[in-house]
Amino acid sequence: MDQDAVINQTKEYVRKKLEGESSGHDWWHIYRVWKNALYIGKEEKADLYIVQLSALLHDIADWKFHDGDDSIGPKLAREWLEELQVEGLVISHVCQIIKDVSFKGAGVKSQIKTLEGMVVQDADRLDAIGAIGIARTFAYGGYKGRELYSPDIKNKKHESFDQYKNDKGTTINHFYEKLLLLKDLMNTEIAKKIAKDRHVYMEQFLARFFKEWNGEDY
Ligand code: NI
Repeated sequence: MDQDAVINQTKEYVRKKLEGESSGHDWWHIYRVWKNALYIGKEEKADLYIVQLSALLHDIADWKFHDGDDSIGPKLAREWLEELQVEGLVISHVCQIIKDVSFKGAGVKSQIKTLEGMVVQDADRLDAIGAIGIARTFAYGGYKGRELYSPDIKNKKHESFDQYKNDKGTTINHFYEKLLLLKDLMNTEIAKKIAKDRHVYMEQFLARFFKEWNGEDY
């Protein structure tokens, strides 16, 4: 099977699996990450076959929906790619990226090593900030039963993946514990540039949120 056919079949497989999902990890998230990744990947002259397969499969079984188990995603991706008879080296690279791509806490260093991994990580992180990031964060908070905000619950800096994934903080806390940190964690220059504007928009949103919360706009 040629590379375009593998990508097309993978696209259909992921679309069927994630269509209609309501926590912000739906097919359209994957679609945006795939487009972001192609754009950044071309700029960075990355291997676009690896980049596209990893972007399409990166949330096929995210740990957030599998009791914190981050081994199911790579396993499902491997099974799928083996079925399509993709070469072994490509499969291992893609599975490694899927395993390492997600944010695991402010104090936890990312394990991403290859250019293709960096591209996909940036593409995914761009979709976690800006207007879409705000929308997705509240959708995810609702899915997890989180409060929007509570002045009684303080922000934390998570030093381990266990701490991060078991946290019960509010959705507004999540901005301080993850989203506002992302602009400085981008790997590529092009993503850093895009992130700047999206970051400013989140800061404006938060300023406005607290202004209304405190009745300072009366
Ligand atoms: Ni994602």
